[in-house]
Amino acid sequence: SQRKEIDDTLATFALSPTQLQEVKAKMRVELERGLKKDSHPTASVKMLPTYVYRTPDGTERGKYLALDLGGTNFRVLVVKIRTEMLSYFHICLNKILLFQLFDLIVQCISDFLDYMGMKNTRLPLGFTFSFPCNQTGIDKVKNTQMLLSIDHPCFKATDCEGYDVVDMLREAIKRRNEFDLDIVAIVNDTVGTMMTCAYEDPKCQIGLIAGTGSNVCYMEEMNNIEFVEGDEGQMCVNTEWGGFGENDNTEDIRTRYDREVDGGSLNPGKQRFEKMTSGMYLGEIVRQILIDLTKRGLLFRGRITERLKTKGIFETKFLSQIERYSSHLCLGLDSTCDDSIIVKEVCGAVSRRAAQLCGAGMAAVVDKIRENRGLDHLEITVGVDGTLYKLHPHFSTILKDTVRELAPNCKVDFILSEDGSGKGAALITAVTLRDIMARF
Ligand code: BG6
Ligand code: GLC
Repeated sequence: SQRKEIDDTLATFALSPTQLQEVKAKMRVELERGLKKDSHPTASVKMLPTYVYRTPDGTERGKYLALDLGGTNFRVLVVKIRTEMLSYFHICLNKILLFQLFDLIVQCISDFLDYMGMKNTRLPLGFTFSFPCNQTGIDKVKNTQMLLSIDHPCFKATDCEGYDVVDMLREAIKRRNEFDLDIVAIVNDTVGTMMTCAYEDPKCQIGLIAGTGSNVCYMEEMNNIEFVEGDEGQMCVNTEWGGFGENDNTEDIRTRYDREVDGGSLNPGKQRFEKMTSGMYLGEIVRQILIDLTKRGLLFRGRITERLKTKGIFETKFLSQIERYSSHLCLGLDSTCDDSIIVKEVCGAVSRRAAQLCGAGMAAVVDKIRENRGLDHLEITVGVDGTLYKLHPHFSTILKDTVRELAPNCKVDFILSEDGSGKGAALITAVTLRDIMARF
């Protein structure tokens, strides 16, 4: 029957407890491979060093400028640690080329400094950047791979690779020739989020972004990070777990719809875990399923509308709305009431799997930290940000349930980063400057 056909299709998105355990185990293997000198260069989970050696201790002070280039928004902030945070939002990332982006960023800073009457104060700057950066120091980038941006509406693929974003920012500031800034730190958004949350909760040693992209960072023991000099203490590692699966080890759980979305993206074969878990792709998976069900005469009276053919119509917030309200009205897809129920089921199956996969990945991370510290039981906090986590009605609950089931020896709390990750960039800047001063 028709119902059975739909159920069978959605069943390919249901993951059994055994399958989730397997995802956790495979993620663990990849985390280890990423940390080893030999396997690091080719690892699917890149495990990038961040040169952030500790979370804030609450004694940080001062006034900093922070840039926060996230998945959806760009913000410029002046952060006065301990007193207040003033921010300037600039939501205009659409269709910008990379070189234009940096001039635009500098223009935003200029406007903001004018507004604040601070053009003549040379502030230290922390730059949160939601792309993978191969760092060789806190403010040094060897090679930026804007993997996400390759399929991002804001940037063009050809503009991206091989640039040093710190240099690009410095040059754009020089071109404008109106003010000077000390770029002290470049920070991945996961790290900024972890630091923001760690300021409130010292148990926060993991940062998670579940938004346009998907990624995690955590505090790793230095002696486990083979490719960085030194064995003492810890360093935050940006896992870039979005790349998990690039070595074909998640093929058993990928569906034909995942392959279609991947094939139609600008970086086929890359970021496979991200393509199953992040806001930028979930809507596309839903759209592929709806097209297929319609072709098979199971939906929309078999008629594929122009709208359904449009890439990117299902944004994260849309997916969240459908699951919250089941509103076929806002879909405008010529749907009947039965159709809207099916659409909701499709969204539910896709987002449920995304949350479970994130949970399985997180379970691998917390158990690794627990074992690193030789503990039977670990209590730890994850600082989280991202539109998928914030807006979706069930994502966070399913994520937490999955972590609880798969990592029973860890008590994991999740706290939301209320002010984005800019404050975290300021804190990193503060910590870095203090460490530099301490050396003299
Ligand atoms: C923001 C953070 O709140 O969330 C950014 O300040 C981060 O640094 C972003 O990149 C992630 O969410 P999204 O949904 O915009 O990708
Ligand atoms: C992408 C980027 C990563 C970032 C994540 C969340 O996966 O590669 O650096 O943290 O998106 O924004």
